[in-house]
Amino acid sequence: MILSNFAKKMKIQENISLKEFTTFKIGGIARFFCTVLNEDELIEAIGFSKKNKLPFFILGGGSNILISDNGFSGIVIKMEMKGIEYTEVENGKKVQVKVGAGENWDDIVKETVEKGLYGLENLSLIPGTVGASPVQNIGAYGSEVKDTIESVYVLDVIKDEYKTITNSECRFDYRYSMFKEDPRRYVVLSVNFILQKNGKLNYDYKDLKEHFAFKNIREPSLKQVRDAVIEIRTRKLPNLKEYGTAGSFFKNVVTSTAKGKELLTKYPDMIVHAVNDKKVKIPLAWILDHICGFRGVKIGNVGTYKNQALVLVNYGGATATDITNLAQKMVDKVYEETGIEIFPEVEWVE
Ligand code: EPU
Repeated sequence: MILSNFAKKMKIQENISLKEFTTFKIGGIARFFCTVLNEDELIEAIGFSKKNKLPFFILGGGSNILISDNGFSGIVIKMEMKGIEYTEVENGKKVQVKVGAGENWDDIVKETVEKGLYGLENLSLIPGTVGASPVQNIGAYGSEVKDTIESVYVLDVIKDEYKTITNSECRFDYRYSMFKEDPRRYVVLSVNFILQKNGKLNYDYKDLKEHFAFKNIREPSLKQVRDAVIEIRTRKLPNLKEYGTAGSFFKNVVTSTAKGKELLTKYPDMIVHAVNDKKVKIPLAWILDHICGFRGVKIGNVGTYKNQALVLVNYGGATATDITNLAQKMVDKVYEETGIEIFPEVEWVE
């Protein structure tokens, strides 16, 4: 009975352009739009969508979505529920950090690193909000957020109840969780992380190793790992103030070991990482760059970034159609050259 019991207090706006709410700087009009600061407001917004039989869409930082030029005909709910609580666990060896879904991701990484807590440092400078982090299991530089998540506290809109979803129930995988299967069912309210007081740093990823070797740093500190990630990301990925982008547009390729071998025969320089004895992972950026010639291309006002072929860019004034046309060209070319099907990482909203 949570959702039918709401007071009408919050301001729901009409016909709001979504462009400025996304890092792509692309998107049509939302029929209805509101910002929620707490559970009562969220319940009111979802109650409104149920009562009016309209779909809802939860908007975080808008950094991993491509909104249709036709906009969204339901209600867009901008999640701004804040709050951070630290609780020592396991005799003070670890700290549980409960964070509101609307907190900015990198603010949390910065704060936890400053407090000397290990676990999130490799995920520095990823744009977006905390609520979105478990949904697509954000990852970078050899770490994934799943390794630090204890549980996710959600509102189950279908069953009309609050729930705590444990790490294993989330069924995390590469850029995947069970939240993806039913995107309109669960609304993330907060995420519980478990961070270590004396953790182990992970700087095995090629870029990080090279960074520390170049700087002659043998045993980097927690803060040095965060700083290194910030430096590498700033160099390789576009500045969101300068370019419209949602980061990697496609997921990396996970394919069979046999397919990996076949491609290696044809392209001996190709980078192939074993996932297990049946599967390999291939950086799609390498294929796009070295096989398909897609790094730094510009077609009208869209293109791929000069330092990262996986990153699609709106050079100014592009539409969602411009982006999807380029993405389709990339899908077709990769298939033509390698026989591999590729899939977007960015979520399509309409
Ligand atoms: N490479 C190229 N050409 C390029 C870019 C990269 O040949 O234009 C090669 C690199 O030399 C490297 C390999 O491809 O050997 C992998 O590149 P990189 O280390 O930049 O990582 P990625 O696999 O392309 C993934 C994530 C990024 C994350 C980085 C760093 C996905 C889809 N992307 O990219 O995440 O920042 O690793 O860990 O998994 C995002 O999700 O939006 C995102 C930016």
